[in-house]
Amino acid sequence: MNEQWSRGLEGVIATDTKISLVDGQNGRLIYRGYEANKLSLTSSFEEVCHLLWHGSLPDADQLIKFNEKFKQHRTLPPHIITILKALPAEMSMMSVIRTCVSALESPFFSWPPTVDQAIVVTAVIPVIITSRAAYLKKEEPVKPDPSLNHIANYLYMLHGKQPTDTHIKALTAYSILTMEHGMNASTFTSRVIASTESDLISSAAGAIGAMKGPLHGGAPSEVTQMLNEIETKEKAESWIKKKLENHEKLMGFGHRVYKTTDPRSEALKEMTKQLAGEDPWLDLAYYVEETALRLLDHYKPGRKLYTNVEFYAAAILKAVDLPAELFTPTFTASRMVGWTANIIEQSNNNRIFRPQSLYTGPVPFS
Ligand SMILES: CC(C)(COP(=O)(O)OP(=O)(O)OC[C@H]1O[C@@H](n2cnc3c(N)ncnc32)[C@H](O)[C@@H]1OP(=O)(O)O)[C@@H](O)C(=O)NCCC(=O)NCCS
Repeated sequence: MNEQWSRGLEGVIATDTKISLVDGQNGRLIYRGYEANKLSLTSSFEEVCHLLWHGSLPDADQLIKFNEKFKQHRTLPPHIITILKALPAEMSMMSVIRTCVSALESPFFSWPPTVDQAIVVTAVIPVIITSRAAYLKKEEPVKPDPSLNHIANYLYMLHGKQPTDTHIKALTAYSILTMEHGMNASTFTSRVIASTESDLISSAAGAIGAMKGPLHGGAPSEVTQMLNEIETKEKAESWIKKKLENHEKLMGFGHRVYKTTDPRSEALKEMTKQLAGEDPWLDLAYYVEETALRLLDHYKPGRKLYTNVEFYAAAILKAVDLPAELFTPTFTASRMVGWTANIIEQSNNNRIFRPQSLYTGPVPFS
């Protein structure tokens, strides 16, 4: 038995990948050779899906066909509608998504996982979210608009009106930047399940279960709560000082991997500048960030605490009028792209995951 081990597999390389590189020292996130930051400001959601799943950005013809495939899968099978209506109102949206994704299972999804399967499950999640939100309000869901791309259609189905260009751009940037992020807990889960040659649906449903945990997908709504509590610029300094003096953590700051600015927060901040003026809340967010960084430097010198993706994710999601309970579900809708890319990659060079545990219990006397 090897005596060297790492709780939580921290620092252990469990597979190789060509999908993404999270460079924590230099603050870079690379998707298949491209800076995710640049992609988020210049590409569509569908283009980056093509990149992550196929390994290259689409040419014009490929993009037309790809967009069409997304649009074909925006209707829910009748049994999913029945499930959506039957699930208890108190069930969380994450559990609803996990249950509905599970119920998508059919022979179409049998092993091996494919890009066509990935498109179906990615295209349908915003429809699950918006339909469930409508049924909870005892309303009929807004029908998808075939003239709109994936992100614009999500906003349209959510709010029942054509979204503005700035809102589409902002949610596109958020969704691209959160599609994929190395071997995080949910991506690892998806690969472990895929490594048993279970199907894409089971692997994706397991990943949603991992994402549901507050240690993984929950921070942006806590940032919103923090900004709601701070309320005005005048209160920011004293509120933050009190937290730090009580040894509490400030939501939206610090990261396990990035020991410099999180590149995703920089790109999202850039995007918020286009929204400034639309929402006074953004002005408060800039001020709170500045004050928090100054006070973190004072109270926690040398800890390398910078703004993380969740801080500006909260600002963006709030600015596009997403209710806080849809923050993690919306993160799930974009991360499905990374999970499915990893599931496909795992299937192409599979070895079942089988680490060991160090037994520390009693042994029988002989
Ligand atoms: C993300 C996070 C878990 C990373 O943690 P980590 O790299 O393991 O760092 P640690 O928790 O070991 O913290 C190192 C030091 O910095 C402090 N610190 C870390 N993040 C902090 C924060 N957001 N606010 C205040 N202090 C913080 C810790 O208290 C610790 O101080 P100490 O040396 O005096 O004990 C942590 O920064 C955090 O909880 N942030 C807030 C939640 C959040 O925004 N999560 C979303 C992440 S994308």
